[in-house]
Amino acid sequence: SIGDCLLFYVNGKRIDETRPNPEHTLLYYLRNVLGMKGTKMACGEGGCGACTVMVSRYDREYNKVMHMSIYACITPVCRVHGMAVTTVEGVGSIRTRLHPVQERIAKFHGSQCGFCTPGIVMSMYTLLKNFPEPSQRQIEDAFDGNLCRCTGYRPILDGFKTFSCPKGENCCRVKKEGGMIETKGGMGEIEGLFPLDPTQDLIFPPELMLI
Ligand code: FES
Ligand code: FES
Repeated sequence: SIGDCLLFYVNGKRIDETRPNPEHTLLYYLRNVLGMKGTKMACGEGGCGACTVMVSRYDREYNKVMHMSIYACITPVCRVHGMAVTTVEGVGSIRTRLHPVQERIAKFHGSQCGFCTPGIVMSMYTLLKNFPEPSQRQIEDAFDGNLCRCTGYRPILDGFKTFSCPKGENCCRVKKEGGMIETKGGMGEIEGLFPLDPTQDLIFPPELMLI
């Protein structure tokens, strides 16, 4: 029953761990126990963001589900009891459907070696869960904890700025005729970007609201 073991969800699947190893990190558990290799291991000490995942938990006081991006490499797996963990595998894939966050990275050439990309996707995905129309500043701040050694960040930010809210002429996103979107100082025009669609997201497991 709930309370006797470590209980959490990963991408909508319930995990009951009756004998959790208190020395295991969430990253170790995802990659080596569940065999999910989408979340990357790089520095292993909370310095690069390659291992970023989103955790969601129900906050009783605010009667609201809260979402946070965390470093799985320095989070003990026992810490996520009662939480719903979302990894890059739960966001979207080319086999099913890319999430707009992944699509923007691809269309704006924001991935080269790709090692940082799952973490970058998860930081942006979490920001959009909390702020569906973030400001440019919020977008930049959301990547405080993600290093990319290849791209220089510019194409990543250009792609993600297409999510930001219209702020008159200071907006980074100018809608043009025919649905074209131009990002100022960016790569130029990209046609037919996927809109954000909250129905594409996994729902928070109602069971976890009881814990
Ligand atoms: Fe670098 Fe986790 S692997 S922060
Ligand atoms: Fe290589 Fe970011 S694409 S580290």
